[in-house]
Amino acid sequence: MGDETLRPVLAGQKALVIGVANDDSIAYGCAKAFRATGADLAITWLNEKARPYVEPLAHELGASITGAVDVAVPGQLEAMFDQIRTKWGRLDILVHSIAFAPKSDLQGGLLNCSAEGFAKAMDISCHSFIRMAKLAAPLMTDGGTMFAMSYYGANRVVANYNVMGPVKAALEAACRYLAYELGSQGIRVHAMSPGPLKTRAAAGLKDFELLLTEAAQKAPLGELVDIMDVGFTCAYLATPFAKRITGGTVYADGGANLIA
Ligand SMILES: NC(=O)c1ccc[n+]([C@@H]2O[C@H](COP(=O)([O-])OP(=O)(O)OC[C@H]3O[C@@H](n4cnc5c(N)ncnc54)[C@H](O)[C@@H]3O)[C@@H](O)[C@H]2O)c1
Repeated sequence: MGDETLRPVLAGQKALVIGVANDDSIAYGCAKAFRATGADLAITWLNEKARPYVEPLAHELGASITGAVDVAVPGQLEAMFDQIRTKWGRLDILVHSIAFAPKSDLQGGLLNCSAEGFAKAMDISCHSFIRMAKLAAPLMTDGGTMFAMSYYGANRVVANYNVMGPVKAALEAACRYLAYELGSQGIRVHAMSPGPLKTRAAAGLKDFELLLTEAAQKAPLGELVDIMDVGFTCAYLATPFAKRITGGTVYADGGANLIA
C-alpha cells in the first residue's frame, strides 16, 4: 500500500514513540505508519551511541520532538514528557517498544536467571511502561491510546524465550490493569503481539532463525509480518474507528497464534 493512498486519519494527533534503534525496529514501523496517516511525532534514542542511527530517521519522518530516553536513567523519561508538555501541551498516542534482559540471564534458561537480571528485565521491559503511562495520562486530555509490544511467549512456552516469557506476561497484565484504570479518561491501552521480526533485540535470542521459519510455516496467512504491518495495526487502533477496543492483546502475526 503506497502512502499516497492513505487518508490522514491521525492528522493533528501527537505521538510519542520510544524504542527506535534503527530502520528494522518495530517502533520505526509504528512511527512511519503514524506519520503516513498524519500524526506529529516525538522520537527518542537510547543514548549518544544510538543517536547517529536514530536521529536521521526522526528527521526523515519530520519528528518535531527528539531526545535521549534511557528508562534506566532517572529523570530522562520525565525530561521527555516536560518537552512534550512545553511544545505540544498534550499527547494522543504513546508507544513503548523496548525490552532488555542481561544476556547471561536471557540465554541461560529461567531456572538460572538471577534475581538482579530478572528485576532489570522487568524494570526496563515492563515497569517502565507503567511509568510512561503515569506521565502520559495527564497529557491525554482528549483521551488517547497506549501501546506496549509483547510476544506470544507471554502465554505459551516458546523455546529460548526464557525470562522474557514471564516479563511479557506481566506486561500484558499491566496493559489490562492500565486499561481498567485509565478507561474513564477515554484512554485505551493495547498489548501488541507481533510475530517474530528480524530486529536487533531479536538477535539476542538463541536460534531465532528457527522461530522465523516456524512462524512462516504456521501462520494461516502464510507469511511473516513486517514492521509496517505492526505499525498500521497500531495506527488503526489509535483512530476513532477503534474507540471501543481496549485492554486486550492484539496479535499481528498472520494468525500463527491460532495454531497448536
Ligand atoms: N523482534 C521480534 O520478533 C519481536 C516480536 C514481538 C515483540 N517484540 C518486542 O518489540 C519491542 C521492540 O523490539 P524490536 O524487535 O523492534 O527490537 P529493537 O532492538 O529495534 O528495539 C528494542 C529497543 O529497546 C530499546 N531499549 C533497550 N533498553 C532500553 C532502555 N533502558 N531505555 C530505553 N530504551 C531501551 C533499544 O534502544 C531499542 O530501541 C520489544 O519490546 C520486543 O520484545 C519483538
